[in-house]
Amino acid sequence: MPEHQFLDIRHLDAGYGRSQVLFDVNIGIPWRGGVAVLGRNGAGKTTLMKTIVGELAASKGELFFDGRDVSRSRTEERVRMGIGYVPQEHSVFARLSVRDNLAVGALSSRNPAAVDRVLTIFPKLGQRLDQPAGTLSGGERKMLAIGRAMLGEPSLLLLDEPTEGVWVGVIEEITERLIELAGEIAVVIVEQHLDLALRVADYAYVLDRGRVALQGSAGDVRNSPELLRYLAP
Ligand SMILES: Nc1ncnc2c1ncn2[C@@H]1O[C@H](COP(=O)(O)OP(=O)(O)O)[C@@H](O)[C@H]1O
Ligand SMILES: [Mg+2]
Repeated sequence: MPEHQFLDIRHLDAGYGRSQVLFDVNIGIPWRGGVAVLGRNGAGKTTLMKTIVGELAASKGELFFDGRDVSRSRTEERVRMGIGYVPQEHSVFARLSVRDNLAVGALSSRNPAAVDRVLTIFPKLGQRLDQPAGTLSGGERKMLAIGRAMLGEPSLLLLDEPTEGVWVGVIEEITERLIELAGEIAVVIVEQHLDLALRVADYAYVLDRGRVALQGSAGDVRNSPELLRYLAP
């Protein structure tokens, strides 16, 4: 990988109190394209996403975003700089309508047409505008969460399990939108569906017990004889 990256994570340690989860993680994310973060349950993928967006403080190491050291920046500042985040859980306001979820997201948007763009990307949401988000299907909820993150017009989008709890018939639709997105901006995708992740991503990192155990082009990682060992429960 080239030396200067859009997001450069260097020697990152992070965890919860005295329980360390990430150990000396080094990851580079280019300006455009998809990067997958793989690993079995508990490997530290969500912890990594939270540390990138600043919900969790790194205990060691640095994060450079667009050439700036953001290791100590607040989440709001990282978001303002262009980092979008779709968390694994609680990513929409269940009691608010789809319209209001988007309106809240649009508060951070510089572009008045941003909501229209989201409805063009995910037309299903347009048919659900007055429905409380809590009554949406799993897939629609994920679309809404991704749409909300898009309203901030991120240049780096972090997606933590964007197809978890989504009916297989809708997974393909979400995947295609993510592939298109990765053609425009940097997309980091945490996914249990290996094939899906490696369709969106050009490059992949595999975490094993909080360390980068394997990395390479999507093709190389897919063909690695070690991969299944790192993903097996
Ligand atoms: N809020 C928390 N407090 C303490 N430990 C946590 C917390 N969240 C996650 N962990 C622990 O951190 C480890 C990594 O979890 P996580 O990052 O969620 O893994 P993944 O997303 O890869 O499944 C697990 O051992 C998990 O139990
Ligand atoms: Mg997780």
